Amino acid sequence: MVIKKFDGKIGEEYELFKLSCPHFDKLENTVGKIIKKEYKNKKNKTINVLEIGTGPGYTTLIILDSDNRTNVVSVDNESLMTKQAEKILSTFIINNRVKLVTEDGLKFLKKQSNESFDIFASGFTLHNFNKSYREKVIKEIYRILKPKGIFINADKYALDNKSEHIKSLNYQLQQFKDQYSKINRPDLTKEWTKHYLEDNEPEVIMKENDSIQFMKKVGFKDIKIVLRIQMEAVFFAKKIEYKTLTVELKNTTKHPITQ
Ligand SMILES: C[S@@+](CC[C@H](N)C(=O)[O-])C[C@H]1O[C@@H](n2cnc3c(N)ncnc32)[C@H](O)[C@@H]1O
Repeated sequence: MVIKKFDGKIGEEYELFKLSCPHFDKLENTVGKIIKKEYKNKKNKTINVLEIGTGPGYTTLIILDSDNRTNVVSVDNESLMTKQAEKILSTFIINNRVKLVTEDGLKFLKKQSNESFDIFASGFTLHNFNKSYREKVIKEIYRILKPKGIFINADKYALDNKSEHIKSLNYQLQQFKDQYSKINRPDLTKEWTKHYLEDNEPEVIMKENDSIQFMKKVGFKDIKIVLRIQMEAVFFAKKIEYKTLTVELKNTTKHPITQ
């Protein structure tokens, strides 16, 4: 079952989350920096990116700015959020660089062909999923990525060390209290605290090492944590299909001695 967590106040006023997460821009900008670096010397005419969790379009804008060859299909299951994104991204929508889809992420993934995207990129979304749903999503992402395709996720990844995790969670809960009391919004402190405690439930929590192990199991290689600040991290991984590479080698090595 997919639980919608952004159909209330925190969805309507998502921009106020930035106030309580001082490193928000740094994390999101890292997504753009990675795309820029990875594609700087590549000759692709277009770079097809799939994003899940458009929200108001912050991550989408960063992906679009990172390289002008990026074309983004961005999926969100809340029309409240897609409507906000339509405003920020209007020019890119007109220029056909962005297509917004209001649909459940997993449902959308299942309809995509194998090896059809160069990049999967996302911000602050996958941690919202129940573990079993998230695992299905990760498997589908691997399937729809092209060989050498990349996965980038700027998100909440719980630290494996329990006391460090609790420390970072308490830091964030305190941020909600401090920042929202300054603007006289105790209602937001309440909503965001509830949201963070739900994300911390055993069937939801997205832990750093569990995520690495699961991605390895699915087949991802070169898994790296590019940045870590408090509860958040930017994950990078590549789809390298060794099977494909072996076939290429078999077809090209015609050594005279073995012929
Ligand atoms: C916290 S916002 C992130 C927005 C933006 N990427 C950012 O980093 O600022 C997460 C978004 O994911 C969407 N979302 C949550 N579950 C989803 C699902 N199962 N399928 C598609 N979108 C989903 C929510 O509606 C919400 O807009």
